Formats: sequence, C-alpha cells, structure tokens
Amino acid sequence: MNRPEKSKSRQKIESETELSRKSFLQKSGGFLTAAALSSYCSTYSRFPSGLDDPLENARWAGLSDPIHLALAAGISAPNPHNVQPWKFRILTSTEALLYVDPDRVLPETDPTLRQVHMSQGCLLELLSVAAGELGMSASISLFPEGYRVPSDAGKKPVASIQLIRANQRDPLYASISARRTVRTAYHGPAINSREYTDLKALTKPRVSELRETAPADLQKHLDFHFKGMQAELAHFPSAEESRKWFRIGNDEIYGKRDGISLASNGVQGFQKWFIETFILSHDPEDYYDESGQKMFMDRYRENLYSVKGQILFITKSNTVKDWVLCGRDYARMQLAAQSMGLVMRPTSQLMQEFDAMADLAAQYNSFIGVQAPAKIQINALLGRSDENYQAPRRPLKDMLLS
Ligand SMILES: Cc1cc2nc3c(=O)[nH]c(=O)nc-3n(C[C@H](O)[C@H](O)[C@H](O)COP(=O)(O)O)c2cc1C
Repeated sequence: MNRPEKSKSRQKIESETELSRKSFLQKSGGFLTAAALSSYCSTYSRFPSGLDDPLENARWAGLSDPIHLALAAGISAPNPHNVQPWKFRILTSTEALLYVDPDRVLPETDPTLRQVHMSQGCLLELLSVAAGELGMSASISLFPEGYRVPSDAGKKPVASIQLIRANQRDPLYASISARRTVRTAYHGPAINSREYTDLKALTKPRVSELRETAPADLQKHLDFHFKGMQAELAHFPSAEESRKWFRIGNDEIYGKRDGISLASNGVQGFQKWFIETFILSHDPEDYYDESGQKMFMDRYRENLYSVKGQILFITKSNTVKDWVLCGRDYARMQLAAQSMGLVMRPTSQLMQEFDAMADLAAQYNSFIGVQAPAKIQINALLGRSDENYQAPRRPLKDMLLS
C-alpha cells in the first residue's frame, strides 16, 4: 500500500502525547474555555435555521415557490459521504430539471457513478413525499433528453420535475425531519418478521427486490461488511477520498455543511472535541495515525456487530434507471423505518466497483447467489437507536444553476 510512511517511534508518540497534554492545558487554561464548551455542548441541526422541518426551514430562508420548497425538502435525502451531488435548473415556480453535480462525485469508490445516481433517486423520493405536503404531486420524467453514463452526467438532466395540484399527502412526510443514517451501536431485539413485512409494505419498491437476511446468517454478512471496510481503508486512493471529505471540528462541519466527520460516526461531546483539537488533523501523518485508525476500526466493529437485521436491495439489471429507482426505494425505506421507530445504515463497500474491492465483492455476490446482470445496489442494516445526529446540508441556493 502506497501510504505515507508512519515511522513514528514509540518515543516520538509519547513526546507528542506529552505535547498535546501541555497544549491542552495551555489552550484550556486547565478548564474548558467558552469556545470549547460551546463545541462540547453543541447539538446538531441539518439546516442553518435549526428548524427540523425542511419546509419550515425553507420558508425561514425566504423561499416560497412550490418548486423551491419541494427541492429544499429533497436535499435532506441520503447520499454517499454527504457530498450532496445535486444541481437544479429552475424553469418555473413549479418546474425544474435535476442534474448530477460533477464536482461532487466519488471517483475512487464510485467510479461508475452508480451511487451518485442512486442519490438522485433518493432526492426525487423525498421531494415527491414533500410535494404532497404542499398540496401538489410531483410528475417526474427520467432522462428527458436521453442519457448515457458517464458522459452525460452533469450535462443532461437526470429528471424533469413538474409539480401539479393534487390532494395526496404522504404519511411518511412525518418522518422526513428525523430521518438520519445512524452508525452508532443499535439496541433492542432482532428485527422480527412482522417488522420486515411492514417495512417492505411501506416501501412499496419500484424496482428493487427487498431480500431480508435470515437471523442465522446475519453474522456471516457482517463479517463480509467488516472485511469490506478493511479493504476500503487499506486501499490508499479510496481512503484518501474519505480524507478529502472528512470535516474536522464544528467550524469546518458547519462552514462546508457537507462530508463526513467524527460526529457523523457517532463520536460526540468531549471526546469529539478532544480528538479534533489535539489529535486529528488533515495532515496524512495524523489522519492515518496507526493508533487512531485502530481506534476507529475497533469502534466500527463494535457498532457494526450490534445491528439487528438487514435488507438487501437487488435489481434484476444494472442500468442507470435501476440506480435512480433503487435510490427512491432506499430513501423510502429509510422513511418507513423511521416511522416504525427503527433506524438504518448502509455499508456499501462490497457493492462498490473499484478494482481493489473486486475479489471480495465477487465472494459476497456468490455467497448471496447474485449474478450479473443482477446487482446488489445497497443494503440497509437495521436496528433501534436514540442517536440523533443530523448531517448538515448546504443551502439550496448553492445548488442552483443560473
Ligand atoms: C447510495 C448511498 C450509499 C451510501 N453508502 C454508505 C456507506 O457505505 N456507509 C455509510 O455509513 N453510509 C452510507 N450512506 C449514507 C450516507 O453517508 C448518508 O446518507 C449521508 O452521510 C447523509 O447523512 P443522513 O443520511 O444522516 O442525512 C450511503 C447513502 C447512499 C444514498
């Protein structure tokens, strides 16, 4: 692996730890400063207003056209690494075109742009659910000008959206505000067959086979997912991609309002503040520090093995249309889970298409019995959690094409 040398001797680490301790005492003056305290105590909000409801937040931001309001709810959708890969061209107060933002893609872990297109579907689903709340229905045409990947991504619209007067509220809107991806430990009992049945019924999948994992097999799947994460971290280009999107400290998290962070991985409060202030930095030496990486993987393992069930999203073919529609299914299931008091997280590593993952991905596909052209697009690991971290979103105005 072509990583920067990690040649720190034990002695050096100890002297650095001593330095950190000293600078901790200097910076804090022996007690927590006001800035540190506010960071330590901060609560996390998806939107700048601090309001949970995306439509209320949009109105707070001065938006009133139905299309702006619906899009503002749509951008609370799940998307890999929270890159928010969306651009919009507003046509009228009720119409817009949706594009991939080519500057917000993940070339190393998503070289085919599959996950980026799933995110377009996630957005369309949340937008459609929110449209009902506005007394509208979203009429969506996929690829109105034709579409080829990767050449048309960012150039041609993925979808045209037209809001039409209607009276069809979607009960899942009530779950939009609290929907979130939870990566901390899950508690409570295993997902039971009734819950699986309800989840699938509420999801009403458009394209995906929703295949639940038998309780007796869950451990074997988790072993695969853990190896997938190890492989992603061991492959320098994919690890670097995560470093690029990693935000350190609340100033960066709320300045950039995107990406991943300790907080999004469930490290919060004093521990987060301490690690971000004294240990972690964007310097590869710090970021890839062996003890830090080990701590991360230990926690990752603990959280991963606490999940209580899994559903795989499998499509019969693997076209760009499948990706978008499967994204809709995934986002809808996350709302459904939320409405049932459940949370979910995906572990996409084994579904990713980069070379270093190919062997492990092939082993997982053969374990599941999925053969091309069929494709496992994503998984939902399920459970219960009170963790309520909300990953921030950029303002809608930053996503508008002129
Ligand atoms: C296609 C897709 C793939 C994703 N893959 C992963 C993943 O491998 N691991 C993970 O922890 N989260 C994954 N996520 C979840 C995103 O990281 C999450 O949606 C994003 O950080 C925003 O957070 P939120 O869902 O809480 O709003 C994925 C989401 C999508 C739509």
